[in-house]
Amino acid sequence: MTDQQLIIVGFMGSGKTTVAREVARRLNRAVIDLDDFITMSAGRSPAEIIQQDGEPSFREIETRVLDEVLRQNPAAIIAAGGGAWTIAENRRLISKVGARTVWLDAPFELCWKRIESNEETRPLAPSMEAAEQLYQNRCPVYELADLRITIAEGESVEEVAAKIVSLFTQSQNREP
Ligand code: S3P
Repeated sequence: MTDQQLIIVGFMGSGKTTVAREVARRLNRAVIDLDDFITMSAGRSPAEIIQQDGEPSFREIETRVLDEVLRQNPAAIIAAGGGAWTIAENRRLISKVGARTVWLDAPFELCWKRIESNEETRPLAPSMEAAEQLYQNRCPVYELADLRITIAEGESVEEVAAKIVSLFTQSQNREP
């Protein structure tokens, strides 16, 4: 059986990028940060694209880059941006290539603490109220992911990655 791709989804600040790196290290796989690929491809960061051209333009670019990344990196561990999984077309592309998805289910308070303390601009989380509303709206869609990991405050990246590797490996073994 070929190695399946694993897409890490979840809200901004849930730890997707750092966890993806550690999962990739443990599985000896390549790691890809979708937002970094968007920045390379578009010459601007997701935040800049959203601020300058609006969210719909960003989503078009995101879908195009996701499609490329999925087709060109068969066994990669991919950290998606927080909104990528909420777009039906992206979920279709992911399912078409047979990739697995895991939701980093972190409490809003933890995500917000990280968003607030991070230097990165997040135009879709301009205030705590707006971010929490978005979080609530998105949770039912994140739930559609194949696997779910509940993240507790204080849990290390190593602990989270170990749980993902174990769940992912078990789910691959169940494949026909
Ligand atoms: C977004 C999250 C960002 C980035 C863009 C949109 C979102 O990625 O893709 O600003 O819609 O939640 P992170 O989740 O890595 O912050």
